[in-house]
Amino acid sequence: MSISLKNALLLLSTVAVLTACGEPEDTRPGQPVKTRQTAFKEILRVFEPMGTMLRQDRYEADKFEALAERLSTLRDAPWPLFAADTHYPPSKGTPAIWQQPAVFAERRDAFLRATDLLLATAHGKDESQVRAAYKTVHETCQDCHKTFKSR
Ligand code: HEC
Repeated sequence: MSISLKNALLLLSTVAVLTACGEPEDTRPGQPVKTRQTAFKEILRVFEPMGTMLRQDRYEADKFEALAERLSTLRDAPWPLFAADTHYPPSKGTPAIWQQPAVFAERRDAFLRATDLLLATAHGKDESQVRAAYKTVHETCQDCHKTFKSR
């Protein structure tokens, strides 16, 4: 076999273990990393339209409430998937998650409390309260990512 064909086959097999966006595949049983990443993406998928609605100044109380309800069904999913031995590619988590578990748990709980408040204000349908509660949740995402997410 020629060198260049060998190289081409090697390249192909390397490409095969990468996903479309160039991330390594999560090959562990149960795919904890991939599953929690999907859980976060689902959270973003309902959280983002809430922010868009507020930024574009077209708050629709019923729509917002439905999104807040959906968020409260999704918000618990990622956390049990951060088991002790799950810091491996393609995770975007930092080692701090496992080095400072108490701080990580604090940030998680702040997020959970903020989403409780967001749901309560969404039920109340007072726009200024909804805006304040949305902002708080957004800050809890960022507060955690700052220390515990690498990119
Ligand atoms: C307590 C910490 C914490 C909170 C709160 C948090 N995240 Fe994250 N988030 C993480 C960590 C850690 C990762 C990286 C997970 C991994 O790759 O293993 C992550 C990953 C993500 C990702 C990337 C998923 C991917 O792989 O593409 C998105 C999107 C995301 N979070 C959105 C949010 C949003 C939106 C909020 C708030 C509504 C939020 N997160 C709140 C810790 C947090």
